[in-house]
Amino acid sequence: MSEQKPPVPLFDLTRQWQEVRDDVHAALERVFATQQFILGPEVAALEKECAAFLKVKRAVAVSSGTDALLAALMTLEVGPGDEVITTPFTFFATAGVIHRLGARPVFVDIDSRDFNLDPRKLAAAISSRTKAVIPVHLYGQAADMDAIRSAAGSIPLVEDCCQAIGTEYNGVPVGGIGAFGCFSFFPTKNLGAFGDGGLVTTNDDTLAERLADMRVHGMRPKYVHHFVGGNFRLDALQAAILRTKLPRLPRWIAKRQASAAHYRDLFARAGLESKVRLPEELPRRGHTYHQFVVRSGRRDPLREHLANQGIGAEVYYPISLHEQQCFAGLGYRRGDFPESERAEAEVLALPIFPELTPDERERVVAGIAGFCR
Ligand SMILES: Cc1ncc(COP(=O)(O)O)c(C=O)c1O
Repeated sequence: MSEQKPPVPLFDLTRQWQEVRDDVHAALERVFATQQFILGPEVAALEKECAAFLKVKRAVAVSSGTDALLAALMTLEVGPGDEVITTPFTFFATAGVIHRLGARPVFVDIDSRDFNLDPRKLAAAISSRTKAVIPVHLYGQAADMDAIRSAAGSIPLVEDCCQAIGTEYNGVPVGGIGAFGCFSFFPTKNLGAFGDGGLVTTNDDTLAERLADMRVHGMRPKYVHHFVGGNFRLDALQAAILRTKLPRLPRWIAKRQASAAHYRDLFARAGLESKVRLPEELPRRGHTYHQFVVRSGRRDPLREHLANQGIGAEVYYPISLHEQQCFAGLGYRRGDFPESERAEAEVLALPIFPELTPDERERVVAGIAGFCR
């Protein structure tokens, strides 16, 4: 009988837990001892540490990446009658928050090289109603921010950095380029909490103050409300946990990048480069490999083949946002965004996380080679 190999998971957080466990227990004890669970010194310290890491003036911790985007748009006073431009090839939240504020999401197709908003198509989508542009640094790769900035002119940019903490554009961490940067601490993100969490960054003190008030129902001082905000607060427990992980993030990112380089080497040695398209590394555009996404014209059978061998792989995202039922009222049709539609049919994310072993990567590529043979 042949020996059954253990599965290669798409993602395995239990391995990271082994590394952080003692520090996390100590951090939790610290919070339990104070019994201060809402905002407070842990959240303030996390904000300071994140601002230093991301090289921005201000960071405001919030309840999720979705709420980071929502609070940023609310701070820019996006509302009914406004348009906000973004890409149709992203996680739903990017466009969902626009719609929730009564504004209209306007989509611009992606560039097939990096899956990010194509700056060459941006100018044509701008109107007198455009209130903001949300570039997404998808999969951890920086969008073409200089070209987006020059096409957008003075329209504020809200960077969706939910998959891209620590990614650099032209040597500058993303999140400090636009008016706001929005981050997610969803557990599977490169820096993950033990539940939901998020962060908004900015280099503008006035915007930072307004956003911090937005997080507590537009309140300052206590029980005096200047505008309608929400409860977008991060728990002290999550902040304490994130503080134990943040110093490790550069090393974890380096391991993801080393994994990506190893994958490239393995694909080249197996002669697979003409069979599957690997992620492109572009000048100035850092990549922290939240996902390592390949493309194949036979994506679904490839995924099934890998699943049969116990190899995890996932599709981010199978339905572009202009094709989602809830956005039917926007009037978009299939064919409107051909690059996004091609991507949704071809992309496949392979296992990548800091603790992934060389042997596991070899098994992933051998699995793909077996399919392509
Ligand atoms: C591109 C993008 N935008 C927004 C979000 C929303 O973040 P969260 O799940 O923390 O609300 C996510 C993460 O899920 C994301 O990947």
